[in-house]
Amino acid sequence: MNQENPETTGPNQLPIANPPDNDSRRDFMMKVSLGLGGLAATAVAVPVVGALVAPLLADKSEVWRSVGAPDQFPVGTTKLVRFENADPLKWAGETAHTAAWVRRETDDDFVVFSVNCTHLGCPVRWEADAELFMCPCHGGVYYRDGTVAAGPPPKPLPRYDVRVAGGQVQVGTAPIPITKFSDG
Ligand code: FES
Repeated sequence: MNQENPETTGPNQLPIANPPDNDSRRDFMMKVSLGLGGLAATAVAVPVVGALVAPLLADKSEVWRSVGAPDQFPVGTTKLVRFENADPLKWAGETAHTAAWVRRETDDDFVVFSVNCTHLGCPVRWEADAELFMCPCHGGVYYRDGTVAAGPPPKPLPRYDVRVAGGQVQVGTAPIPITKFSDG
């Protein structure tokens, strides 16, 4: 004789609820799946977050880069130099290098400007005849001392520290993100 379970069948013999054993098994499997998913996400996230955060926690001390002998910079000239970032990543390739504009004001006085416009970072070029730095992106213009002459740049061109040591003009830079700039 077929005895109906009133909790599992309705008037048309359709199941209306799962037996308690099925519910608890489903809950258990759901919790196991969520747990394993969480573990997998953590296993992936920890090294990725570590790789992103490590450069920010690294030593940001200034590093000096030689850019040429003083006699390569005649007094009154402004010259583009390239140098390696302070702490280039092994896989950085060409992006491990940056550039700056070096001006020799007097025999003993050098000034080094960042090439990056303070608006959105485009590289500025030096127009010797006009004695202006020009930004090609949105028409930003800077005077020879790096202060803003026209256009959208909100601040003067940043300056690097500079010194002459060991017969070389040296630019003081720090690991990216550069934090050693002083406003011009
Ligand atoms: S990036 Fe130089 S003016 Fe906009």
